[in-house]
Amino acid sequence: MGILELQELSYSYDKKTNVLNGINVEMEAGKMYAILGPSGCGKTTLLSLLGGLDSPTNGRILFNGINIEKAGLEMHRKKHISFVFQSYNLIDYMTPQENVMLTTKSPALPFLEQLGLTKEESKRNVLKLSGGQQQRVAIARALASEAPVILADEPTGNLDEDTAQDITRILKASAHEKGKCVIIVTHSGELAKQADVIFRLKKGHLQVVTDQAR
Ligand SMILES: Nc1ncnc2c1ncn2[C@@H]1O[C@H](COP(=O)(O)OP(=O)(O)O)[C@@H](O)[C@H]1O
Ligand SMILES: [Mg+2]
Repeated sequence: MGILELQELSYSYDKKTNVLNGINVEMEAGKMYAILGPSGCGKTTLLSLLGGLDSPTNGRILFNGINIEKAGLEMHRKKHISFVFQSYNLIDYMTPQENVMLTTKSPALPFLEQLGLTKEESKRNVLKLSGGQQQRVAIARALASEAPVILADEPTGNLDEDTAQDITRILKASAHEKGKCVIIVTHSGELAKQADVIFRLKKGHLQVVTDQAR
């Protein structure tokens, strides 16, 4: 049984066209999944359903076998999911340490150091960090949260190529070493190659491009 199961998942904004059209997929803990697809194909819509920010028009999402609607979307959002966004979404009047402390009672510094930030950087205002460093803080916050699923919506969209590779490697390590289920939306076929499973979202269907885990 996967940690996330999508069953006949469909979504429509206007009741005419389905952005998502009967998706059946299982995702497991300890793996990184990449979702590729052109702008407007429904990637963000899919992540928002997985994150319990919205409800499907049809079908269901199971978390460890239980329908997230029945368990409660608020609980699902709080306990199961952490988001990483293209725009980092840090609290910008706080330091990295304070941002990480929002999701954990454990000491924040080890999470930040693990992601390559120095003690000094961890105490700086986040706006005085580079984009790559800010995204490391966002990932540290996600890892500190204990949520078993990380949903990353184009997390490297604003970063240079080397930093993007690095951030993708860190997300992959979160899956392989910490057992997270990491789902990353990207435009980059190159970055997607790091994933265990690559999906392409096309006409509302999620097609497996490669499954390196099998
Ligand atoms: N709130 C909304 N209301 C109506 N249509 C929307 C809304 N959000 C997104 N869409 C449409 O749904 C489709 C999928 O959007 P989105 O999930 O954001 O795609 P992607 O993330 O792949 O670029 C697009 O055609 C978009 O215009
Ligand atoms: Mg999007």
